[in-house]
Amino acid sequence: MSRFISTALCALFLCLICSTVASAADTAAGKTLFEANCSACHKTGLGGAPKLGDKAAWAPRIAQGTDTIVKHAVEGFDGATGSMPAKGGVMTLTDAQIGDIVSYMVEQGK
Ligand code: HEC
Repeated sequence: MSRFISTALCALFLCLICSTVASAADTAAGKTLFEANCSACHKTGLGGAPKLGDKAAWAPRIAQGTDTIVKHAVEGFDGATGSMPAKGGVMTLTDAQIGDIVSYMVEQGK
């Protein structure tokens, strides 16, 4: 019986570890995906896009909360400066990948 309990606890513990890893944003992957899919607008500011690392442009966006800006990036968003296409127009990106990219953008904009 105690063996069963320790096995169960062990499984639970492993499960906790993997769910923590899975939910933590992967900004390294986000950087690579950013370069491939979002840099055309977000490096140059094309069409009113907030530029990567432009703290003044990012501060009010970051203030909305990461969930909101991720939602805007996934669904698309018409704001005060221009029009953000859903997933940057790359519909093969998953919501989780968009989350990684936005975490990277937020990190650079702080
Ligand atoms: C065709 C140009 C273009 C591409 C490509 C593009 N964006 Fe944008 N993005 C914009 C513009 C323009 C805005 C500003 C909209 C506004 O606030 O008026 C924006 C805003 C955003 C914001 C801020 C949203 C907010 O609520 O303030 C995020 C986050 C974002 N983009 C993420 C991404 C990601 C991630 C990608 C790549 C998958 C991407 N963008 C690709 C043009 C683009």
